[in-house]
Amino acid sequence: MKIKNICCIGAGYVGGPTMSVIAQKCPEINVTVVDLNEKRIAAWNDEDVENIPIYEPGLSGVVAEARGRNLFFSTDVDEAIDKADMIFISVNTPTKTYGIGKGMAADLKWIELCARQIARVATSDKIVVEKSTLPVRTAAALSDILHNTGNGVKYHILSNPEFLAEGTAVEDLHAPDRVLIGGDYTTEEGSKALQALVDVYAHWVPKENILTTNVWSSELSKLTANAFLAQRVSSINSLSELCEASGADVAEVARAIGKDSRIGPKFLQSSVGFGGSCFQKDILNLVYIAKSFGLNEVADYWEQVIIMNDHQKRRFAANIVKTLYNTVSGKKIAMLGWAFKKDTNDTRESAAIYVADYLLNERAEVVVYDPKVTSAQIYADLDYLGSRSEEENRNLVTVVNSPYEAIEDAHATAILTEWDEFKKLDWDKVFESMLKPAFLFDGRRLLERNEMEEKGFKFYSIGN
Ligand code: UDX
Ligand code: ADP
Repeated sequence: MKIKNICCIGAGYVGGPTMSVIAQKCPEINVTVVDLNEKRIAAWNDEDVENIPIYEPGLSGVVAEARGRNLFFSTDVDEAIDKADMIFISVNTPTKTYGIGKGMAADLKWIELCARQIARVATSDKIVVEKSTLPVRTAAALSDILHNTGNGVKYHILSNPEFLAEGTAVEDLHAPDRVLIGGDYTTEEGSKALQALVDVYAHWVPKENILTTNVWSSELSKLTANAFLAQRVSSINSLSELCEASGADVAEVARAIGKDSRIGPKFLQSSVGFGGSCFQKDILNLVYIAKSFGLNEVADYWEQVIIMNDHQKRRFAANIVKTLYNTVSGKKIAMLGWAFKKDTNDTRESAAIYVADYLLNERAEVVVYDPKVTSAQIYADLDYLGSRSEEENRNLVTVVNSPYEAIEDAHATAILTEWDEFKKLDWDKVFESMLKPAFLFDGRRLLERNEMEEKGFKFYSIGN
């Protein structure tokens, strides 16, 4: 089975970059990425590739190479579905905010809508690939909908979770540690469908790095990978508090344990807390699945990763209040960074949102600078929490275009995202323009304590 036309439903942080790289590496396959969001598609089609809606180093170059050749962005979902031999579903799967499983289970509304749309439109056999991260056994639900509401055409469901990390998406897609494909290898037709997707990736990924499993293992592996990664961050963050209390330094502890080849050095960077669209959502998902099987100890074990992360964000904010003589009311606090990590404009679940919310509850005046996040996004993130009116958020929070504007006359400066440009700021100038004592809170361990204290800052750094 040779794939000629691919359609991807969802032009977001996963669908956009993944399909761009597939198109770049497979020039003989036509790849059409569709989305209901007209503005997003218009931005993907913007003549100037620097204006594509997702900021990822290297992505604009990939889009420039393939767009118009065999990579297309469109809002005509039906046409793209009908033409495709293989359809990726890469739509949002947020945590449910209502009803059964509220605050834990994934909301599969968008997935189901896609399945119903495919079933309505398709007139030839399709391979349907779950790209979005989904709870175990979602493939069964998809298959059910497709086969019961379709036009009698055949569907093969594959699970192909994406492991790219934002900020390094292009690098991760070009040289993935592994590609994982789950399918039904017990039947001849299922094996052919699996092989068709293996052949797509084999254009650039070494065969030994393409793993095939059954569908459930693939779905669960994705949740597990994210849970393990998040658990490492929560583990080191839990020790950061112990380091602060005991006089140890969490970076030294991380270096010492990371040298053990069984532990390894990666993902041991203590921070103000992990964010991003995946970690929290996927762990909640795992917790929900475990609970639904009655596995309460398993659920509690993983839930603790999130409890620790929430604690880390809260304790960072509380420390600012405590250090500023127990009140930040009417004080100007400069926040450097809003994105959940550097090199992305994504703010989903960013620690900065929760730290700002805490400080605003303490009546601080917050001034934010982030090199890639728009003010509209920052206000939308705060409004979404519903802690205060939209008007109050706009009165209390100012978004500025330069870090120096943010810190001018500030009582305290807090680093929330590890953008490289913050390392290179003129910290003497920052010190001069802040109110004294000049408090500096480093939530990313970006700066050196000795250097900052020599300049005169009252310096706090996580885990040190
Ligand atoms: C993650 C997974 O890494 C990726 O494989 C999956 O496909 C999606 O979820 P992402 O959320 O994009 O990717 O970023 P990641 O680099 O994993 O960082 C997640 C959060 O953890 C960020 O807020 C980051 O700042 C934080 N983090 C990461 C730490 O605080 N310390 C670390 O050592 C590593
Ligand atoms: P992710 O990080 O998983 O890529 P995003 O929220 O960035 O998630 O992207 C998901 C995209 O899917 C959004 O742009 C949304 O408009 C799109 N989408 C959701 N449901 C549908 C649908 N039924 N048809 C087309 N696009 C959809």
